[in-house]
Amino acid sequence: MVRVPVIGRRSDERAAAWLGLALGISFGTAFVTGLISHFLQHPPSWAAWPSSPSGFYRVTQGLHVIGGLATIPLLLAKLWTVYPKLFRWPPFRSPAHAAERGVMFLLVGASLFQLATGLFNIAYWYPFPFFFPDAHYWTSYVLVGALVVHVANEWGKVRRTVMTRPEDGLSRRGLLLTVAAAGGAVALTTAGETFSPLARLALLAPRRPGVGPQHLPVNRTALAAGVTPDASWRLTVTGRVDRTLSLSLADLRALPQHTVRLPIACVEGWSASGDWRGVRLRDVLRRAGVADDARVRVESLERGGRYRTSRVDPPHWQDARTLLALGLNGEPLAPDHGHPCRLIAPNRPGVMQTKWITRLEVW
Ligand code: HEM
Repeated sequence: MVRVPVIGRRSDERAAAWLGLALGISFGTAFVTGLISHFLQHPPSWAAWPSSPSGFYRVTQGLHVIGGLATIPLLLAKLWTVYPKLFRWPPFRSPAHAAERGVMFLLVGASLFQLATGLFNIAYWYPFPFFFPDAHYWTSYVLVGALVVHVANEWGKVRRTVMTRPEDGLSRRGLLLTVAAAGGAVALTTAGETFSPLARLALLAPRRPGVGPQHLPVNRTALAAGVTPDASWRLTVTGRVDRTLSLSLADLRALPQHTVRLPIACVEGWSASGDWRGVRLRDVLRRAGVADDARVRVESLERGGRYRTSRVDPPHWQDARTLLALGLNGEPLAPDHGHPCRLIAPNRPGVMQTKWITRLEVW
């Protein structure tokens, strides 16, 4: 049986210290992987992400979401061990004490906010009136800032506590093992959303590899995007080019075709690989006479939506694995996967693998 440590006892301080260390590591990992996701989607004008290793984003965003979910039992246990401190009276004894407590409340609030909004987002439930990525992004700075100040305040105590031998280690160890088991169980029942050998165990995963049209999950269907098949479809290549191109599907099919195995790695943490077949983006751009340092804006047939365009920088469009895909897993591309033509490139979030492409604008 797990005895929950009682506040004020050394065993409780030890549990709080160990849980705090684990939370520091998991929040630090979430912050770094979250920033990677943000800057991949919003690269500054002077920078371009590399296209290799091809599965980098799949790993970082998988770690972000699965690690974030596994952190929920950790945070609840930490709050359980410290909550009486949150309600102490009088609320503060001096201005310095007031500042310390202010930081602590900011830390608790930001932690709960991040974990709750992250969880709602992957469950496709949006009860909040704000745009999730923006709020989640800015709150991560608040969380990490408050965490740094809090750790600086508590570091001496944490060091003393974790370096000394416990007097009554059993209750502390029981709590920590229970929390580790709960976190591990959450990770195990989610990791299958990106690691296919565990797909059968992925009870908490909203999407699984192998499930969906052409054995690949879909987030936004053609119907949801308002895209209908159109026989007069053409792909236009325009902007800073020597020759403007206007290609039909038959023109694209007549160009050299290539097959690559690449994952769709969703911002929501799930990922799944497919065998994509189509034309190299660089072959089409070179036909149009594009300079080596050019950037490309890929535009979808979608009328609205935040992700109807995406930017493709030289490392990606020059990569031989970057295709204008016309087929998937041995069949012509299904409408929900972007028929007649979609982008597939290595090391890129799924929202930037633009579907239903109609225009490439070069600048
Ligand atoms: C249960 C825990 C968490 C889950 C499920 C989760 C989920 C997500 C998801 C789905 C995204 C992608 C958003 C998008 O681009 O559409 C994201 C982005 C991000 N997350 Fe989390 N998250 C969690 C915890 C955290 C924590 C603790 C931090 C900070 C310490 C954090 C920082 C970030 C940042 C900076 C981004 C980038 C936002 C942007 O694109 O502007 N997340 N998270």
